[in-house]
Amino acid sequence: MRPLIFLLATLSLAAQQPARFLPEQACALCHTRIPNAGGSWRDDAGWVGPSHLWKNSMMAHAAQDPYWRAKIAFETALAPSEARAIEDKCLRCHAPIDQYPKRIAGTQLALAGLTSLGREGVSCTVCHQIEARGLGRAESFTGSFTLGTDDRIYGPFADPFTMPMLHHTGFTATEAGHIRQAALCGSCHTVITHPRGGGADFVEQAPFLEWLASEYPQKGSTCQSCHMPALDSAQYIAHRPPGGAFPPTSPRSPFARHLFAGGNALVPAVLGNVEMESRARQQLGRALKLDVTARREKGVAIVDVVVTNLTGHKLPTAFPSRQMWIHLQARDNTGKVVFESGGLDPASGAFAGGPEPVVFEAVYSDAQGRATVSLLEAARYRKDTRIPPAGFRASRLAEAGLRGFDIAPVAVPANIDLQPGMAIASFRVTSSAPLELEAEALFRTIQPSHELPAFPIPAKLRQPVSLARATTTLR
Ligand code: HEC
Ligand code: HEC
Ligand code: HEC
Ligand code: HEC
Ligand code: HEC
Repeated sequence: MRPLIFLLATLSLAAQQPARFLPEQACALCHTRIPNAGGSWRDDAGWVGPSHLWKNSMMAHAAQDPYWRAKIAFETALAPSEARAIEDKCLRCHAPIDQYPKRIAGTQLALAGLTSLGREGVSCTVCHQIEARGLGRAESFTGSFTLGTDDRIYGPFADPFTMPMLHHTGFTATEAGHIRQAALCGSCHTVITHPRGGGADFVEQAPFLEWLASEYPQKGSTCQSCHMPALDSAQYIAHRPPGGAFPPTSPRSPFARHLFAGGNALVPAVLGNVEMESRARQQLGRALKLDVTARREKGVAIVDVVVTNLTGHKLPTAFPSRQMWIHLQARDNTGKVVFESGGLDPASGAFAGGPEPVVFEAVYSDAQGRATVSLLEAARYRKDTRIPPAGFRASRLAEAGLRGFDIAPVAVPANIDLQPGMAIASFRVTSSAPLELEAEALFRTIQPSHELPAFPIPAKLRQPVSLARATTTLR
């Protein structure tokens, strides 16, 4: 009977023992200076070690992000009596190291209760302890992942050499297929809210659901494929603390880079992190393809701008402050601008006069139908003109067993034709003269309606990011 009693005792101990976290420094010891085949720790792609790359990502700044902090202040000011519950909610995905133990204990975390470990945001020992349980299903959404309690660190590779890491950290490297699945990211990257004042659940951020409704799952292209692009070459995944590979290990493939670049070039610039900013700009450069064609109909120039979405989700996606639009200019043969759409007033950042601009964005309304930027008042979409990903069909969600999540476009104006994987925007230019046409896709992290007094955007950082340009001539 002894072995059984022993087993029961360990099981109940494991059930009580909370998940354990370590600072990323404890991992950096062996996961920064990844030696490549030539024995150096940089290669053509620059740094490749997880620690260095992760440190310069927004997820490492999720609990320090000044725009996020300003938004918490904004939300709590709208409902001061609920401040504690709101802070706890906002800390759930942005500061999981401190919030997770409170969630398990059934208590709440205040912003002021953040520890220095919690300020590491979405850190190594969060992602690498997420269990497979519930992933990809509604029970895991809105940051409802489950962390293991038996000190395992999940990774993609078979038969890891576990001894050094176990000795230094108490964690056992363990192979687990779910680490490579999009559903791992989908837990936090599906934000469902319960609108204040009642009403149905509201799908606030849904890159994972958008991806699921696209053709990317069938093509085997996951969040990791585009946000943790693998190196072409095999690579050691760990190094001895003083440098050099652990003798029994050999290079592994595919080696994924912890880049996690998204569309946020603004906050990195505000934080003065040049590397993080430039990675976001590079990622934005992969977002779309732009084409422009023009023809004449009864003395009017019809200009079609075709935007092909190359991302695995809507473009833009995720946080509702993101905005993309078309800046179109038509010049006559003297170089004079005879038509312009989507130009900005430099002082306010608002769209300048001229025809209604073609804008790709999400706008929320509250339960009374008024436009709102509050994440907690939002009850439905007043507008969703974001460009769906390739192969997009909203009904794929129900086919995958996910019901009640509506991610179809809303209130798309007649001059935008939204299709799976692309948008065709039509402009009418009243001119019979020969025209030089130039279209540009522009993007900004925070559109004016989402600016917050507690996060003033410095004037020199107000310039939108140019994603692509296309030109044509019409005789
Ligand atoms: C946002 C979640 C996330 C965070 C944070 C994260 N990782 Fe990873 N890590 C992954 C995923 C996913 C993979 C597997 C990627 C693949 O193979 O496509 C991975 C792979 C790895 C690997 C295997 C080698 C490789 O790069 O393929 C190591 C080692 C690793 N991570 C260490 C770390 C360390 C150390 C940190 C903290 C500095 C960290 N990770 C932070 C998600 C994360
Ligand atoms: C379910 C997980 C989750 C919860 C809960 C959550 N967030 Fe987030 N939040 C995210 C993710 C994921 C992103 C990244 C989206 C992106 O980059 O577009 C994000 C991005 C943001 C951003 C944009 C940051 C930037 O630099 O542009 C703000 C602001 C923000 N969240 C505020 C909040 C507030 C306020 C709350 C609480 C009311 C909250 N979040 C709760 C997951 C969450
Ligand atoms: C003393 C060195 C050392 C430290 C410290 C260390 N690791 Fe490791 N890690 C290793 C070695 C060695 C391997 C296995 C390499 C192999 O087998 O190719 C490994 C493998 C991994 C893997 C891949 C496992 C798999 O099966 O795919 C992940 C993920 C990982 N470590 C994450 C972490 C995290 C997170 C931390 C910090 C809590 C950490 N490591 C701390 C040495 C270390
Ligand atoms: C524990 C919750 C959590 C998990 C798991 C998670 N994320 Fe995130 N992620 C966040 C939060 C929170 C932010 C927003 C940080 C901010 O901007 O303040 C974010 C931001 C991002 C960004 C946006 C950066 C930008 O420029 O706007 C990307 C890209 C990203 N995550 C990719 C991933 C991928 C890929 C995975 C899976 C391998 C993943 N995330 C897993 C919480 C998570
Ligand atoms: C085919 C490549 C591809 C796939 C697959 C993909 N992404 Fe992206 N993602 C991009 C590109 C390119 C951008 C930059 C353009 C943008 O911001 O929309 C981006 C941006 C983002 C952003 C930042 C949006 C913003 O502007 O703040 C988040 C968050 C994100 N992706 C999460 C995910 C998650 C989660 C998955 C998996 C469910 C995923 N991505 C799958 C290519 C991809």
